[in-house]
Amino acid sequence: MITRSLLLAILTLLLAQAAQAVEGMWLPIMLKKYTIQQMEEKGFKLTADDLYSINQESIKDAVVGLVHMSNPYHHFCSGQIISNQGLMLTNHHCGYDYIQSHSSVENDYLTNGFWAMNQQEELTNDDLGVCFLNRMEDVTLKILENIEVNSDEFVRDSIIESNIRNIELQASENGLYYAKVQPFFAGNEYYLSVYKIYTDVRLVGAPPSAIGKFGGDTDNWMWPRHTGDFSLFRIYADTNNNPADYSESNVPYKPAKVLDISISGINKGDFTMVLGYPGTTTQYLPSYAVAMQKNIINPAKIKIRTQSLNIIKAAMNADPKVRIQYSSKAAGIANGWKKWMGENIGLERMNTIKKKQQLEENFQDWLVQNEVTRSEYGKILQQYEKLYTQLTPNLLAAVYFNETLFESETVDLAGKFNALDQLTKGTEKEKSDKTIQSLVALTDQFYKNYNFETDKKLFRAYIEFFYTNVPKEFHPEMVSLIDSKFKGSVDDFTNFVYQKSIFPYPEKLHAFLATFSPKKVKQLHTDPMVIIYNQALAVYMQSLNPVLKVTNKQINDLHQKYIKGLREFQANKQFYPDANSTFRIAFGQIDNYIPMDAVTYNYQTTLEGIIEKDNPDIYDYKVPARLKELYQNKEFGVFANPDGTMPVCFTASNHTTGGNSGSPVLNDKGQLLGINFDRNWEGTMSDIMYDPEMCRNITLDIRYILFIIDKFAGAGYLINEMNLVKEANQDRLPIQTNVTQSQ
Ligand code: ARG
Ligand code: GLU
Repeated sequence: MITRSLLLAILTLLLAQAAQAVEGMWLPIMLKKYTIQQMEEKGFKLTADDLYSINQESIKDAVVGLVHMSNPYHHFCSGQIISNQGLMLTNHHCGYDYIQSHSSVENDYLTNGFWAMNQQEELTNDDLGVCFLNRMEDVTLKILENIEVNSDEFVRDSIIESNIRNIELQASENGLYYAKVQPFFAGNEYYLSVYKIYTDVRLVGAPPSAIGKFGGDTDNWMWPRHTGDFSLFRIYADTNNNPADYSESNVPYKPAKVLDISISGINKGDFTMVLGYPGTTTQYLPSYAVAMQKNIINPAKIKIRTQSLNIIKAAMNADPKVRIQYSSKAAGIANGWKKWMGENIGLERMNTIKKKQQLEENFQDWLVQNEVTRSEYGKILQQYEKLYTQLTPNLLAAVYFNETLFESETVDLAGKFNALDQLTKGTEKEKSDKTIQSLVALTDQFYKNYNFETDKKLFRAYIEFFYTNVPKEFHPEMVSLIDSKFKGSVDDFTNFVYQKSIFPYPEKLHAFLATFSPKKVKQLHTDPMVIIYNQALAVYMQSLNPVLKVTNKQINDLHQKYIKGLREFQANKQFYPDANSTFRIAFGQIDNYIPMDAVTYNYQTTLEGIIEKDNPDIYDYKVPARLKELYQNKEFGVFANPDGTMPVCFTASNHTTGGNSGSPVLNDKGQLLGINFDRNWEGTMSDIMYDPEMCRNITLDIRYILFIIDKFAGAGYLINEMNLVKEANQDRLPIQTNVTQSQ
């Protein structure tokens, strides 16, 4: 007989499993194998082929990765296609640098927003690429074929390298595609991704920062959230619909697939899925690695960035020009800073290190039972401990190099001038003119966002951190001058550098470039900024990098074994590979969460909350007058909730990470509900360990986006390009709603 308590236990188990099922960022190839069934259990109504197919158009054809063409395989954000004229929707913070690059004090699109009222008014962008996934393929066997079991490590690695190169070369079809083979599960598997990248991408619209960045860094990573974090671009192609660099004769790209947009609204428990390009996660780290991250690396980075942010924020508050110049930099610095703080709190709350140790103990107990596993995996944990002990001080030093010396913008600029070393007397005029021109352009761009006092204060802070925290053996000679020449005074050292270098002075640097001849290279070599850059780089590359490389390689090899072992040990568990900027699908449901005792956070925010936060004295919370007017008059058109409120953001339990920004959040039928742009602070440890109770992704509701485009900006012509779907009643009959008519 089943007792009541047994029944309860079974029920609890079932519920726990249901909640747990949302963890994971799955590859399209894994859908049919196992994910799709779990998705169906949660309410998914389509088939695996509707999401991803190489034979027919599928939803993946409407999901894009955004890249800088200088680094075409790193997707810094995601996006989606929402009209048959190549309209692409992503986050405001993803388009931020492009919006900023078109902005000036006179034409301040960051502050005022930008709306092209027709295609002629759109603005072109350098270096922005939009990637479409053509296909993804498991190439593990091809990569690992012709490797002898006992072959030496070096031979093994070079065979893998050459197999990768061959596959990429073949898949690129003479440059038609970008093809990339990447390791998954630390090299236990390999997958090929094939992309088409469009490079003529034009800015169509962006709300003012008071909407697109509402709440700023104060609300960043937080819930309840009210940020209208979106911007719009249009992709152009040549007349054959193929990628082409900007040209007036290009035409709007004709997409294979356009997302339908749902304006039917959302409810708690609704199925959601997120498709896009998550950047990096480390789910299978051993306890030693988590301890290093949590106790050593995160605290150091947080300490440095707290100081830089104090300096930058004081300057931004004192001067509106500095605000424009430094806001993107500040946002970048603050973003990681705040995330690591949340991550550390989450790791602590979850008792992550203990849980990992427990897993390791169980793994050890399992492996010793059998001769084969004992010989293959028996030493892993010991070796991990040794390697992480070795790695920690060196990695910490590297963090200081990257977060201080190399983080100084002036030092970085000085480093770029090393390009002039190549210009000798014999250099052709054309080549030398080109080098100088590119440095002039770089310099102009640099000073556009430069403030002498702020830069000098930052430099001083960086030098002090470096000088006091990095072992002397890694000090570049120039930094040693603080002891030998300046009696330990970082101030005197800073003054010396800022007097003697030409890089803090636009006039001096321009004059230098305007009258450049190879003879003047000598002058550069005596410039303290150049010296710091070159010496720091030399120390880094000669003393630090080689050691780090060796240890990291050993750790990675060990990791490969460990994950292989874990997958044998937990044979019934479905493993998903760590995020690595490849295409993934996550799924979950719209959900509340309980951040602390006695508090429940509702899954949806509305315009009411924006009005509540309104405060003309605080930059991040100034609500535009027009938005208040729309609120007062309740001019929400067809975009309101059934109760008449205007939705803004919602939370759901999809497993996401950096890079998922701009990702479509779709409903059970693959219709667009909104765009992903953040996670909750309490859930930021999900890159290392996911907690189904606490981890939520934050989505900007598509209805708020449409409301802003239509009612706030008066750019309703864009909405006419889109397919809006409204389900009339519970029968869920799709009816096309032409919004402009129904107003
Ligand atoms: N936290 C979000 C993401 O990781 C948004 C970042 C941009 N916004 C900001 N206020 N810094 O990237
Ligand atoms: N804002 C992040 C991005 O730019 C997404 C938030 C996250 O890390 O989940 O990709």
